[in-house]
This record gives sequence, structure tokens and C-alpha cells, in this order.
Amino acid sequence: MPADMEKVPRSIWWGNNEENGKPGIFILDQTRLPLVGEVLCFQQLNGIELAIKSMAVRGAPALGVVAAMAVALWSENESLDTEVGPWLAGIDAVAERIGQARPTAINLSWGARRVRDYAHLLAESGAPLPALKLSIVALAQKIAMEDEACNRSIGAHGAELVNPGARIMTHCNAGSLATAYYGTVGAVIYTAFDQNKLEHVWVGETRPLNQGARLMSWELMAAGVPCALITDSMAASVMQSGWVNAIFVGADRICANGDVVNKIGTLSMAIAAKRFNIPFYVCAPNSTIDKTASDGSQVPIEQRDGRELAGFTVTGTIVPTDDTVSKAFDLLTESGEKLLRFKGKHKMNVYRRDGGYAFDAWFQTTPLNLPIYNPAFDVTPADLVTAIITETGVHKPADL
Ligand code: MRU
Repeated sequence: MPADMEKVPRSIWWGNNEENGKPGIFILDQTRLPLVGEVLCFQQLNGIELAIKSMAVRGAPALGVVAAMAVALWSENESLDTEVGPWLAGIDAVAERIGQARPTAINLSWGARRVRDYAHLLAESGAPLPALKLSIVALAQKIAMEDEACNRSIGAHGAELVNPGARIMTHCNAGSLATAYYGTVGAVIYTAFDQNKLEHVWVGETRPLNQGARLMSWELMAAGVPCALITDSMAASVMQSGWVNAIFVGADRICANGDVVNKIGTLSMAIAAKRFNIPFYVCAPNSTIDKTASDGSQVPIEQRDGRELAGFTVTGTIVPTDDTVSKAFDLLTESGEKLLRFKGKHKMNVYRRDGGYAFDAWFQTTPLNLPIYNPAFDVTPADLVTAIITETGVHKPADL
């Protein structure tokens, strides 16, 4: 049976908001998946910038798409310019700002710059402002479609490397949710599964934000691909047991020498793969290759809030089991959301949703005021990478 892609939702799309008829960027909020599947609509740059920073939308190719859409969104909903010159200056500033919302994934600045450069090119040909505005909206949507097409090619090339009966391992979510659709590693998995070659996927948990545990496992299960979750620290032992035929991971930036910057934990997986002679493949569109970065030391590594490590976040819906509980939550949420703070810095936000109640909570699990180091990415040296799979084929890292 092929992968049931109908069950895997899209992560980002451009559309008109039903309430005010104005354009917006719609995203499936990945901070709340899989327990709450909420679609958010952003109509202003501030909002979408925050969604990027908070990782409601995430994954390098998805960030490229959303960055392109963010520039177009500003042009549609916030630019008051009536002349091409000041509009272009605004586009430059917005592209610069959105490109820096997160520092490591090159796709973010790539997507923003692509729209900016197109705006300049069209303006040089003398196109009037309304036509320019329409054209950049169309380009942003085209970038989303191109991303999906790239992924399908990555899937076709990558699946050739998967042998019948393969048990593969992956890290983080480089699945459909991390792209406009279908994923990079996701594409390889879904294609190989459709070809009846893939037996099983080991999904690395991906501490601290659990993109593997929350997102990759969820989309694989939705698509009907057999998978099992392991913590990051179990990966080497699973390889040692002989249960892994190949490893496929995504990338946030690939340097000119083939070094791969990807989710923290990728490096340890690659080192273990080398030790156990398991091929280690990186799947990414060409837009993830940064020829200006000679090697991994040139890439800024995002440092994230220590609270991601100091505790855990839970989000979900509350189903009261009796009247007393319902009444208690009614009272609590009488005047809207209620933020509850507990001793030990735990906190919980309770609110009404779809005739019931929902919550977002954060619980501290470490000693208070513990110093924390929380880099979001690491650098896997090119010599640990067997091959890099892009939409144009399978490349040796040294051949980049
Ligand atoms: O911090 P995130 O969740 O945006 O990091 C995502 C990753 O590291 C992915 O592996 C990478 O972006 C490739 S996604 C196709």
C-alpha cells in the first residue's frame, strides 16, 4: 500500500482571510502538534516573524517559502508606498529583517532575497507598482510549488539508495511539515515506501524541542509508514545492534566543502554511523547550499532560550469528566485566557476552545537558575557524509 499522503496536512499556504478578505499566510502551528492541530493566519510582518522565531513554522525549506511569502505579505498589507522607489526600499528592509529571524537555515534569507531580487528586476523593466505587487505574490506561491517539486526529485534520487527491506534512521523532522510539502528525507521515505522497499524508520527524538518525537513520528504514522521512536542517546546502540541499513537527515545549510549544518544531534549520529559502517545521507534542495560559507565554522549557530532545556512544554485539550470540573474551568476562563503560575516557575495558560478547554503549559524539571547551553544545530564534517541528495541528483560532498 502506498503512503497515505492525504492524511499529511500542508504546513504553509497563501490565501485570503475569510474574515476581512485580505491576504494572509496560513500555517499549521508546529509548536502545538500533534496534540493540537491549529491553523494560524498571519496578515502582518510582525506576526509571521514571531511565528518563525517561535518555530510555529520551521524546517529549512519551509522557512524559505515562508520568508518569500512574508515579503509579499508586507507588500500587500502594510506598504503604503505609491511610488516604486520607496516600495523597493521597503522590500529591501523587509527581506533583510525576515532573513535574520533565525540565523542558521540559509533558506530563510534565500527565500526573502529571491523575492527582493525579482522585485528589483521587474522594476528595472519599468513595470508599474500594482503589477510589481502582483508579481511578487505570484513568485512567493511559485516558490512553494517549486519546493514540492524539488522534494519529489530528491525522493526519486534518494529512493534509489534504499535497498529492499531497508530499516533506516532519521533525525529531527525533515518530513513534509518541514517543507512546502512531501519533505526532503520525507520524500525519500515516502517514495521508497511506495516502492515497497522500506520496512521501518527509526525516529530520533530530537531533544530539546522533540521535532522527531512530536512531528516526524506523527506524520509517518499518518502516512502509514512503520516507525519507532528512540531517544537521541539510543541511536548508536540501535546501529550497533545491526538494525539500521542507512541514515537520512536534512540540512539547514551545506557549506562549499560539503560540511553539513543540521539539527543538534546530527553530528553524533554521523560519528556513530561511521563507526558501524552505515551510509549517512543528507537530503536538501540546492537552495540549502551556501557557497559563500567555505566550511562549517563560517555558519552562525542559533542559540536558543535555556527554558527549552530546563523543562518541557505540554499543550492539549481538557476534557472534563464531570460537572464540577467543567464548572471549575468555566470559572477560570470566564474572562478569557487565564495564566496560572505555580511554585517552581511552572506555568499553565488555560483557555476555551471549540466548546471545551485547552491549555499550554511549561513545567520546570531542572534546578532553578541552572546555567544552560542550548545550541540548535551542529556541524557534521563532510568526511562523515556518504552523499548529499538534492533535486539534481546524488553528489559526493567533495563534488559540491
Ligand atoms: O530548528 P528546526 O526545527 O527548524 O530545525 C530543522 C532541521 O534541522 C531540519 O533537519 C532541517 O531544517 C531540514 S528540514 C527538511
